[in-house]
Amino acid sequence: MLPRVMLVCVVVVSGLIVTSSNAFQKRFALPAPPTKTDIERGRYLVEEVAKCSECHTPRKPNGELDEAAWLRGAPIWIQPVARIANWADRAPALAGLPSFTDVQAEKVLEDGTGPNGEELRPPMHIYHMAPADARAIVAYLKSLPAEVH
Ligand code: HEC
Repeated sequence: MLPRVMLVCVVVVSGLIVTSSNAFQKRFALPAPPTKTDIERGRYLVEEVAKCSECHTPRKPNGELDEAAWLRGAPIWIQPVARIANWADRAPALAGLPSFTDVQAEKVLEDGTGPNGEELRPPMHIYHMAPADARAIVAYLKSLPAEVH
């Protein structure tokens, strides 16, 4: 009887040691949920620094951004002076992050590639953001209401 109790103790204690180790936490622990500060920082980067809304928000007939459809995808209205073969004609919806997972969207912002490793087409910029900035932007985009169909 005693040996079995001891065995259970050894298993439990070693389990606790492994799961509390730094390496385990780094690999398997869930990332902390975004705070209000992360979301506000993401809003600032999107709206005031990178100006994502200039392409990803549709415009009203007078040319102003349509705040009622903030970041819900829009036709691209700018053209290059010289033709660029793979110029995209639409910027997809970002509000609520409807088509990419968090990790896929972070990758777009950190190295400019899509889910299959393909480069995103111009005029989407190839950003090389710091992971903390990409995460803040993703937190902000997810906090926005997606389009209701
Ligand atoms: C100059 C216009 C422009 C700006 C500014 C811009 N984008 Fe884009 N974005 C695009 C276009 C066009 C695409 C589609 C590219 C393609 O089809 O390969 C795109 C694609 C994306 C995608 C892939 C989404 C999907 O569903 O395919 C993400 C994510 C994204 N942009 C995020 C952002 C964020 C975040 C910012 C600001 C930090 C930003 N974009 C700024 C034009 C722009």
